Amino acid sequence: MKKTRKIAIYGGSFNPIHNAHVNIALLFIKKLKLDKLLLIPTAESPHKDNSEMVSAQARLDMCKLAVKNFKKIEVSDIEIKREGKSYTIDTLTELEKIYPDTELYLIMGSDMFMTFLEWKNPEAIMSKAIICTVPRDDDNITALCEMEEKYKAMGAKTIVLDVKKSDVSSTQIRRNVFDDKSISKLVCEDVERYIFANYIYMNKGNVNYTRFQAVLKSRMSDKRFIHSVAVADEAVRLAKKYGADEEKAKIAGLLHDITKETPHDEQVALMERFNIPLTDLEKVSQKLWHAISGAAFVKYIIGIDDEDICNAIRYHTSGRANMSVLEKCIFIADFTSAERNYNGVEEMRNLSNKSLEEAMRYGLSFSISDLASKCAAIDPNALACYNEVVLQLAAKK
Ligand SMILES: [Fe+2]
Ligand SMILES: [Fe+2]
Repeated sequence: MKKTRKIAIYGGSFNPIHNAHVNIALLFIKKLKLDKLLLIPTAESPHKDNSEMVSAQARLDMCKLAVKNFKKIEVSDIEIKREGKSYTIDTLTELEKIYPDTELYLIMGSDMFMTFLEWKNPEAIMSKAIICTVPRDDDNITALCEMEEKYKAMGAKTIVLDVKKSDVSSTQIRRNVFDDKSISKLVCEDVERYIFANYIYMNKGNVNYTRFQAVLKSRMSDKRFIHSVAVADEAVRLAKKYGADEEKAKIAGLLHDITKETPHDEQVALMERFNIPLTDLEKVSQKLWHAISGAAFVKYIIGIDDEDICNAIRYHTSGRANMSVLEKCIFIADFTSAERNYNGVEEMRNLSNKSLEEAMRYGLSFSISDLASKCAAIDPNALACYNEVVLQLAAKK
């Protein structure tokens, strides 16, 4: 059959995809006059250590973001769907059936090119595709050429592009993210935002406010971000006044609305992923979700397992009986932060300087009556909290 089309396959773990990957793809499209380039993230690389690998879905998502503006590049989930170790021979066999009239090119990193004979069925791969690579800056070109000659002698068709390739690597990007160093010149803006929004490759063990702010910015509008920073400041002020831990107040205040602008289906997926059961009332009260999914995000994805911080986020909208001082500070700070300007905010601020309980009662009566006026269900946690502070204040009289 005459081969009328040219398609290149560019596989890899893409953990994460970076600018050099995209440049290589574009270079081959131009040099080989390709009709299409298939970017194929592996499910599990047989050649690499998988310990630092993020989920296949995350790598696939990032690939799609990185090439969304390039019409000739298509991201394929063929290997991810197949699961298990991804062998190129299996992919090529599948693709031959999908593209019968097509000349297939196989693009690989020079490290993979050098070890190609160790792959599964290299001869069969050679018979199905033209083997292509680009040297890296630090490659031994003589060794690469010798290897190319060896493959040719075995009957392979090869292409080694003679261009200067950037030495950006996924390992470097993961290291930079872990060390809180910039990656903005190494990956496109959308991929950078994805890494922050999903908190991948991060050093989960340490608190870094600049990083937290970057995560927030990747997940919310400017207005919500300003609110989050203002709540953190107000929470620290209240913590200082009422004797809660100021650092915990800052963290909880900053992160309390982290999933507030996350689409509802994603919030549901998050709660399901971490096995968080919802009551019947919570299932139908979407306004409560961001407190629940936000606490899960902070605990399981950001890795902050401080119970008080997580509870402060979990109950920042409803309150609950037996709240800690920190929980109350976050609940109140959400009402009294500097940028708030609703009717009654000054009264709430005055009360917050007088007593935590009086401010709680005011805030709760505000939100409970608002819900009741809309005929919306009222979280029993809010009622329990309200009754508790009312009784505490009555007992003080
Ligand atoms: Fe909130
Ligand atoms: Fe808030």
